[in-house]
Amino acid sequence: MSHDLFEAAQEAMAKAYAPYSKFPVGAALRTEDGRVFTGANIEVASYPEGWCAETTALGHYIMGGGGKIVEIAVIASRMAKCTPCGGCRQRLAEFCRPDTKLYLCDNGGVVETVTMGEMLPYGFRGDILK
Ligand code: THU
Repeated sequence: MSHDLFEAAQEAMAKAYAPYSKFPVGAALRTEDGRVFTGANIEVASYPEGWCAETTALGHYIMGGGGKIVEIAVIASRMAKCTPCGGCRQRLAEFCRPDTKLYLCDNGGVVETVTMGEMLPYGFRGDILK
């Protein structure tokens, strides 16, 4: 099951727009009911205005109806086991549970499975804001 999510992330990575860093990244999220949403990083000449693959995938996920995220895969062709940046950990955590699986990949497939709880321990929770 995780290999198809890796493949979806890899396919997304091929669409990255990363002319400045030349560091393409792909992300894929699967919801409980089996929908898969993907994204790639998109850079901008004004560097801070670019954004990450995970954030693109989350935009597609929300516009596709949201739901419970059960698995996430991230791939960067130039770095084995690329993990989501700090900001993306917080963004992903908004829509995940601590036990949501995160697949860290190299160019051949999934090489390590961690949880979102491990990725973002003591993350800020917005429950009190609701
Ligand atoms: N990047 C991602 O897309 N996801 C991450 O989790 C780490 C970093 C992108 C942002 C930028 O386009 C490039 O990788 C180099 O930082």
